[in-house]
Amino acid sequence: MKLFDVYPFYDVEPVNAYDCIVVDKNGIEYLDLYGGHAVISIGHSHPHYIKKLKEQAEKIGFYSNAVQNGLQSKLADKLGKLSGYEDYQLFLCNSGAEANENALKLASFYTEKSRVVAFKNGFHGRTSAAVAATDNPKINAPLNNQQDVTFLPLNQIELVKTELEKGDVCAVIIEPIQGVGGLDEGTTEFFTTLEILCHEFGVVLILDEVQSGYGRTGKFFAHQHHGITPDIISIAKGMGNGFPVGGILIAPHIEPSYGMLGTTFGGNHLACAAALAVLEVIEAENLIDNAGLTGEYFLSKASSLEGVQKVKGKGLMLGVEFDFEVSELRKKLIYDQHIFTGGAMNKKLLRILPPLTVGKKEIDQFIEAVQSVLIQEKVGL
Ligand SMILES: Cc1ncc(COP(=O)(O)O)c(C=O)c1O
Repeated sequence: MKLFDVYPFYDVEPVNAYDCIVVDKNGIEYLDLYGGHAVISIGHSHPHYIKKLKEQAEKIGFYSNAVQNGLQSKLADKLGKLSGYEDYQLFLCNSGAEANENALKLASFYTEKSRVVAFKNGFHGRTSAAVAATDNPKINAPLNNQQDVTFLPLNQIELVKTELEKGDVCAVIIEPIQGVGGLDEGTTEFFTTLEILCHEFGVVLILDEVQSGYGRTGKFFAHQHHGITPDIISIAKGMGNGFPVGGILIAPHIEPSYGMLGTTFGGNHLACAAALAVLEVIEAENLIDNAGLTGEYFLSKASSLEGVQKVKGKGLMLGVEFDFEVSELRKKLIYDQHIFTGGAMNKKLLRILPPLTVGKKEIDQFIEAVQSVLIQEKVGL
């Protein structure tokens, strides 16, 4: 059987990894400044994470949500404490799209309405309502067009007000910093007014922290830079450090009922063990502070690189915008300099999403590598 060919991948096959390093099948080491789409939070193959997963696998890996699983409550407690959302409720699932799917569905149950307001260049996943709320017609099939979604530009609060006033909106869904779209973000004034308007019109405010959450921006959640309190927060990527796990944090005023949401695999024992180990390492190694500090160091260094127009983002969720398209630069960084970076919808933007353990040494290595590629281009090598 052939694989369904949907990924235009690079010709590299990682077989091993540790911390910020990925090793390919030929033994070549690569600096991972992409974390496999912002997934690696505590570093590849962290010893504590491996130990906890092994211990759990030897006990019980899975049983369904028809029976009790104390690890889920343990995870909810720890997550509540570290994120500052102790009074929220946790529903566990398996991916970012699924988290947003459940968030939107819950908002619709709660308000008994169905229209969604989302933002231009936003990305929320590839399934049903999540992809319909994603501003990219290429990944929406005719089936997905059944959803009623209105896309608005960021930072134009009057346009949001006009839509919410119509009275048929169940949810506003927004990334605190756009990932796939290219690191654009709302201002604090925009976010605080958005929260006020959602309260005023009884609309559920969903913050998609699938990429920006878990300390990546220097706070547990990126929306905490703006001092807002969403009704639902969706999480995934960094939560499991590679183990597929996602979830939503739900405000206390949204009450559950049996059967409202559900999943076979969500919150299984192995996923909980992985997610707990991640939180333990984030706390013990002060990785949120490290993300903030290393991010500042990156900003100070990358802004002076030749051809750089702007460095966007916060902490270790960063985008370097050049005055040229970066696809060739990315190829040279991988094949010649052995550094993984990411691209975005904005073709001139290089995305940097490393493990939160990354330090100044790795940032210096990246800066020198980009300088070397740019010099070679100039002299025509
Ligand atoms: C902000 C955001 N939301 C949702 C998703 C979808 O997550 P997943 O690929 O785990 O379904 C992504 C993935 O890139 C994302 O960046």
